[in-house]
Parts: sequence; C-alpha cells; structure tokens
Amino acid sequence: MNGGVTPHHPPVVLVVAVGKNGVIGGEGRLPWRLPSDLKRFKAVTMGKPMLMGRKTFEAIGRPLPGREMIVLTRGPVFTSPGIHVAHTLDDGLKCAADCARTMGASEVIVAGGGELYRQTLAMASRLDVTQVDLSPVGDATFPHIDDTIWRETSRTKFTKGEKDDASFTVVIFERR
Ligand SMILES: NC(=O)c1ccc[n+]([C@@H]2O[C@H](COP(=O)([O-])OP(=O)(O)OC[C@H]3O[C@@H](n4cnc5c(N)ncnc54)[C@H](OP(=O)(O)O)[C@@H]3O)[C@@H](O)[C@H]2O)c1
Repeated sequence: MNGGVTPHHPPVVLVVAVGKNGVIGGEGRLPWRLPSDLKRFKAVTMGKPMLMGRKTFEAIGRPLPGREMIVLTRGPVFTSPGIHVAHTLDDGLKCAADCARTMGASEVIVAGGGELYRQTLAMASRLDVTQVDLSPVGDATFPHIDDTIWRETSRTKFTKGEKDDASFTVVIFERR
C-alpha cells in the first residue's frame, strides 16, 4: 500500500546508501567509493523515473541513461538538458507518475538527497537501503526508519569488492 500518495500514483520507492551513523553525503558528494553498490543502483533504477533534489542532481552531474530524472528546485532559473524540472514536491510527483506511465514503469524512485528523503518517507511503499559498514563525516543524513512502520523483508550481505571502500548489506523494508 502507498503511504501518502493518491491511489492512482505508482508506488514510491526510496533508494539510499547510508552509513552506520545515518550519514549519506558530505559537501555535496557521496562519502565513499562503492562501485559495487553503484552497479546495483543502476540495476534497481533502470527504466524508471527518478525524483531527486537539485543538490543530488548536481552531484551526479548529468542525465543517467535509461532513466527519466525529475529534479526539484525552488529556484526558477535552474534548468539542464535532458531532465525534467519541478518546483514543488506535488508537481515533481505528478511529473514522475506521468513519466512512469510513458516508460511503462511500475514505480517511482526517490534518489535523494537528505532533504528529499525526509519529504517522501511518509508516502513511500518500500525502502531499498544499502547499509554501508562505515561511519563517515558528512552533513546529509537519512531519517530514522521506525520499525513500527517498516518491516524488514530481505537482507543481503555484500563483501567488499576490490574498488569498494567497505562491505555493505542491502536491506529491503516494506510498509507494514
Ligand atoms: N548515499 C546516498 O544514497 C545518497 C543519495 C543521494 C544523495 N546523496 C548525497 O546527499 C547530499 C545532498 O542532499 P541534500 O539534502 O543536501 O540535498 P538534496 O535533497 O539533494 O537537494 C536539496 C535541494 O532540492 C530542492 N528541493 C528540495 N525540496 C524541494 C521542494 N519541496 N520543492 C522544490 N525544491 C525542493 C532545493 O533546491 P534549490 O536549492 O535549487 O531550491 C534544495 O536545496 C549530497 O552529499 C549527495 O551526494 C546521497
């Protein structure tokens, strides 16, 4: 069941990589190098619309192939080729739902950052969380996952790949 979006809106799924201390980013960047998780992120998001904050888009720096990116900004001037820009969360969600219909996608991904996760957690159906075995310094965090609201449905451990900074565990939570 959806948390807070209208019954006709495709399910909203938050995809995040989070440190043991809740940190997801610092100074506008990811606080680790985890190519193995980026590969998984690509597989999980492919063919789907991705809603994100302007700071996260600037960290990524370009439209990602095979996905429609809907970037939220309060600034009227921000624009970039190959993406959709929305100025309110409602408009961003509507745009993402339209993209999902056009793409034949069954769900909408929220790809961060901290500000966007905080605004969308209450309407999410599923959380796809990479728990990174590090506690980096950073200024962006993921909100608390309340286990009276969220039920863990799967847990997969990944050993540290050659180019990864750490090992990690992917945990899926479904709304109770
Ligand atoms: N570990 C992970 O999985 C992960 C994933 C994504 C991002 N990150 C990291 O998280 C950090 C960025 O997160 P953040 O919280 O600082 O920023 P963010 O959520 O990426 O972007 C915030 C910006 O989005 C716009 N915005 C937010 N809510 C809006 C709304 N309701 N209506 C219109 N515009 C809205 C505003 O843009 P304007 O300022 O243009 O108005 C705001 O400044 C970076 O370090 C990034 O690398 C980590």
